Amino acid sequence: MTVTGYRDATGVVDGESDRLPVPAPGGPLALSTGPRGPRRQQRAAKPSGLLLRYIDAIRSTGGCGAVPRVGGLVQRVDYDVEQHKDYARGRALSQDQVQVWLDAFAGVLPERRPLVGLDVGSGTGRYTPALARAFGPTTGVEPSVRMREVAQAQAWASEVGYVAGSAEALSAASESADYALLSCCWHHVQDKRQAVQELGRVLRPGGRVLLRTNFRDHHPRPWWLEHFPRGYEADAAMFQPLHEVIALFTSSGWRVTSFSTVTEPSTGTRGEMLARLRLRTLSFFAQLDPQELDVGFRRLERAVAGDPDGPAPVYSEPLLALQLPGPS
Ligand SMILES: C[S@@+](CC[C@H](N)C(=O)[O-])C[C@H]1O[C@@H](n2cnc3c(N)ncnc32)[C@H](O)[C@@H]1O
Repeated sequence: MTVTGYRDATGVVDGESDRLPVPAPGGPLALSTGPRGPRRQQRAAKPSGLLLRYIDAIRSTGGCGAVPRVGGLVQRVDYDVEQHKDYARGRALSQDQVQVWLDAFAGVLPERRPLVGLDVGSGTGRYTPALARAFGPTTGVEPSVRMREVAQAQAWASEVGYVAGSAEALSAASESADYALLSCCWHHVQDKRQAVQELGRVLRPGGRVLLRTNFRDHHPRPWWLEHFPRGYEADAAMFQPLHEVIALFTSSGWRVTSFSTVTEPSTGTRGEMLARLRLRTLSFFAQLDPQELDVGFRRLERAVAGDPDGPAPVYSEPLLALQLPGPS
């Protein structure tokens, strides 16, 4: 699973993302330069007129905190107002799905146990207890009071704790953790450079960061997304290109240990997935205007009505692992 020498072999820190190999679905990134068909499909679309107007609009209004300083374009999602109510339901994972992620994390973490872990942007604790069971004592760091409350209500063991904090200001002692997971969180981080410094501070030498995030140029295509106007474009625009994320870390002394994709087992039936999507617990839905949402859901409903009990198709999501200098 581990890929070393990634930076030199690809020249990715120069921003030449065209030279990046593509991970096979479910597999690690190979350093060979084979055919790259899938990547071509995944190339980010140029911002449309509508998107550019949207960028201008949020800039001219001061941005409601929506434009991160480095890369990505995210209409901020307020987890304390609405999202905390439905997040756990809308984004629930089956045990099989959690296990697939744990296996992927185990593949990029050192083998010794226990490992002290930070679940940064832990939300309602979808992963935190499972990380504690699999690897060792885990602290969820989460800025939203309400998301943290939901997580705390479900905390089952002394091995799991939740504290206030953010990726930019982690409430953890220097060199106190072996790894930090950021699951579906990186695109929310406003000051990414500060977050890289802060992660470097709290992790021990050789510590790992696991970024479970999408990238604008390595973006999954969930089966339901195509039904929404601007769906793929709006979703991908929230994320940085892969080379930009890698350059942020490598310029601070980190190295890439692997880039792979993970395919979760199906979320259930297409009808069940539609019911969960209606809860709008994905940041994507905050990027569309009401009319686009309306059109998208009507189209999706029509599509699902044809086969509501069919299994929701699976798709692959990226996982980038980075390591600080030092012993593993
Ligand atoms: C989509 S949720 C992901 C939660 C959890 N990691 C998961 O996979 O279910 C994103 C979380 O990131 C949190 N967040 C927002 N800004 C953050 C920041 N700057 N640092 C850390 N977490 C942040 C949000 O409050 C929210 O709980």
